Amino acid sequence: MISMAEFLAKIPKMELHLHLEGAIRPQTAVDLARKNGVALPPFERVEDLYRYDTLEQFLKIYTAVSDSLVSADDYRRVTYEMLESCAANNSRYVEFFFSPQIHFPNGVSFDTQMDGIRAGMADAESDFGVVSVCAPGVNRELGPAAGEDFLDMIFARGDEKLVGIGLDFNEAPFPPEPYAALFERARNVGLQVTAHAGETGPAEFIRGSIDALKVRRIDHGYHVVDDPELMQRCKDEGILFTVCPSTSAVTSPWHDLSAPDHAIRVMKDFGLKVMINSDDPPMFFTDLGKEYGKAAHQLGFTPADIRRSTIDAIEGSWLDDTTKRRYAAEWGAEIDGLIAELG
Ligand code: ADE
Ligand code: ZN
Repeated sequence: MISMAEFLAKIPKMELHLHLEGAIRPQTAVDLARKNGVALPPFERVEDLYRYDTLEQFLKIYTAVSDSLVSADDYRRVTYEMLESCAANNSRYVEFFFSPQIHFPNGVSFDTQMDGIRAGMADAESDFGVVSVCAPGVNRELGPAAGEDFLDMIFARGDEKLVGIGLDFNEAPFPPEPYAALFERARNVGLQVTAHAGETGPAEFIRGSIDALKVRRIDHGYHVVDDPELMQRCKDEGILFTVCPSTSAVTSPWHDLSAPDHAIRVMKDFGLKVMINSDDPPMFFTDLGKEYGKAAHQLGFTPADIRRSTIDAIEGSWLDDTTKRRYAAEWGAEIDGLIAELG
């Protein structure tokens, strides 16, 4: 017999919604800021930096902490530490975002960022066995023209570990449609696409992301519950929602994870594909294991729900079809074995 806590710790996991800069540990931010002579916002205890009530407040801190990254080796360190935490939570495959555009004003080039990130990914894979790929996020607050320049850099880099793009930062008043041409260019060269939508923005931004950006994955997506017709469509089309319990309790209107009408619970109970992620773990005092705990104990995910969401995650990931089939068979069997041990 194993306990629920052991079950949650032992099951194989993947992350499809994790931000590199949001995974910077507080002490690492302080170390790097000091080394690089960068001023962080004032704090008494480092952890106090990571307190906010809204997405806007959070994004200010996220950006300020990101300024502490300057050299390729800084990127290597934070990538390695992020993936070390993934491995500690039995997260075996990771698709992570990073935010190149906020570093350009500090003179940190895309290649410097990617060189460090690639080194951190390689070191983490050999030390912990965790496989990862990355997806730069297009900052919707900076507009499509800046995004197009940035896409040129992505194309110029042509990096096999850089497999897709996302769209993030503050939603309102930045709807997805102006990014349609940029996303089409990205898709045309074989990049995968996903978009943050329906976290603080309306259900309409989810519909717009599916229609204009042609994404099959929505990051967050909580406001889908406001639009029954869109809910049904997302169910029929098998759209995958990468949800983040701790973030949702701060940035979305659903602050109480135990409430019967919490959007993530409603989405799951309706039969939408939802899978669990940590988003910006230390910045919300969490990790993937804790997010699974919140899913199980507060959002009503049964072991069978967790099994289903793991398979949905594998199918909705950017892995090749052969690997998807292998993971689904192997991880499915592993989870079945652990469910049997739950007793
Ligand atoms: N960047 C990092 N975390 C984010 C979030 N939750 N929403 C939008 N942009 C983000
Ligand atoms: Zn996110």
